[in-house]
Amino acid sequence: MAAKKSASGSGGVKASSGRLSGGGRVRAKVPVSLGERSYNVELGSDWLTTIGRRVSGRLAAERIALVTVPTVARRYAPMLTRGLTAKGSRVRRIVVPDGDASKNLAQLGKLYDRFLDHGLDRGSAVVTLGGGVAGDLGGFAAASFLRGIPFAQVPTTVLAMVDASIGGKTGVNLAQGKNLVGAFHQPRGVYIDVATLRSLPRRERAAGAAELIKAAAIWDADFFDWLESRIEAFLDLDPKVVLPALERACAIKAEVVSRDEREGGLRRLLNFGHTLAHAIEKHARYRGVLHGEAVAIGMVFAADRSEALGFAPAGTCDRLTNLLERAGLPTRPADRPRSAYLSAIAVDKKKQGGKIHFVVLDGIGSSSTAALRPQDILPVGWSA
Ligand code: GLY
Repeated sequence: MAAKKSASGSGGVKASSGRLSGGGRVRAKVPVSLGERSYNVELGSDWLTTIGRRVSGRLAAERIALVTVPTVARRYAPMLTRGLTAKGSRVRRIVVPDGDASKNLAQLGKLYDRFLDHGLDRGSAVVTLGGGVAGDLGGFAAASFLRGIPFAQVPTTVLAMVDASIGGKTGVNLAQGKNLVGAFHQPRGVYIDVATLRSLPRRERAAGAAELIKAAAIWDADFFDWLESRIEAFLDLDPKVVLPALERACAIKAEVVSRDEREGGLRRLLNFGHTLAHAIEKHARYRGVLHGEAVAIGMVFAADRSEALGFAPAGTCDRLTNLLERAGLPTRPADRPRSAYLSAIAVDKKKQGGKIHFVVLDGIGSSSTAALRPQDILPVGWSA
């Protein structure tokens, strides 16, 4: 079955008063509707201690393992921990090395050791604080320890806020490829403090914006228009733009996940740009290129192929390229032979029966999947 976006129009981008400081309370809530596993994505600013109290109330755990990475731990763990411990939970901070290279089985084993050392049992919980590494690794540890204990996500990067923390995908990489071992394990809640973005380097903000632009490109033409006049303001963390942009992107992700939790069809649309992106990351050995940067290049490639294959009207790829370039993102793959990209694409784990569920744009704000052979995606004569 080909997945196709079939939502009727946009949910709209909500206006913001522009006041982000003096926060301490929830400013927006996005529901992820999954029956008894439903939860909210809650957004606010300067409210980490309040988040800690809310998380601890939601998890009601006597012992909590707080999984985080070094820079984030130093800046934000104390404020979050103050809230987490307010109702008597005993919190153990566990710091794992940052970077995708530490999302592996060895680090996972170390986490289990630390969990046992802290006396975690089935009444305990995990809280992840950081970007995709803390969330995916800590989330998978929670999914698998004692056959699964509850967890909550406190993402601190744009990428984790709008994509990785929502929807329950957790896992680690193997030497053979990214995210090859994992589990669907929904968090009890996702809590976003946009103030944590102030310490995020601009390059990483831009890389996260790639996933924001992806959400608009596959799902919501009005949101894409809105971003076209505000992308610089987003990267500058203009308070009138940041919160509504994150809220809208989270709402798109939440809607997709609520309709297709296990990636049977619709959720595949979120992989727009990721076929080539995974090949690029693999060739770079996951070093020197950020995931969002690879996704930006992959989206331009996919939009170009969407036009060439007759799915999208002319001009679609140019519009997308222009927005990504204004965000300071790369849009062209490194100069490598077609055969190198072809072999990397051919091992894509989303391939079935020799074909890949390749996500194409039908135009800005609308997308579908097409079952294509790798050689149709990268035809003879294609060059990077
Ligand atoms: N990051 C893609 C997904 O959550 O399905």
